Amino acid sequence: MATNRTFTMIKPDAVANGHAGKILDHFIQAGFKVVALKYTNLSTEMAGNFYGIHRERPFFGDLVSFMTSGPIYAAILEKDNAVEDFRKIIGATDPQKAEPGTIRNLYAKSIDANAVHGSDSDENADIEGNFFFSQFERF
Ligand code: RTP
Ligand code: MG
Repeated sequence: MATNRTFTMIKPDAVANGHAGKILDHFIQAGFKVVALKYTNLSTEMAGNFYGIHRERPFFGDLVSFMTSGPIYAAILEKDNAVEDFRKIIGATDPQKAEPGTIRNLYAKSIDANAVHGSDSDENADIEGNFFFSQFERF
């Protein structure tokens, strides 16, 4: 059964380009409630663990370097059908293929610097939320 929460990061490119506020507002205007929010910097170890599923992929080193290149916002978001609906509003991984009006279409420049992360399943939403937030940091 689908749960009503997903996990997101506003990635270093979007923070550095000054788009974080607009992206956060995009989430809220699309009907997502912010349940937890943190502004932080990933260490190499944290980024490697977070994206550990991609460890054997050729882009893994670039992904970890990019995700540690500057601060990020991490958040847990709530809405009916959260995981699937959130993937729709962020658009395809490659911004060149992202639908008009999606966050990656509006704010991302490349497949590496693609502005946002969105969980790909309820199970991963739970794991990823727990990676960043204690029970006392959720509302
Ligand atoms: P994310 O996990 O960040 O939300 O992105 P995603 O689900 O859309 O894509 P995923 O397959 O999980 O890949 C994680 C991140 O790795 C980079 N990537 N590069 N060069 C490539 O072929 C390639 N494929 C993936 C992207 O930055 C992607 O967001
Ligand atoms: Mg993914």
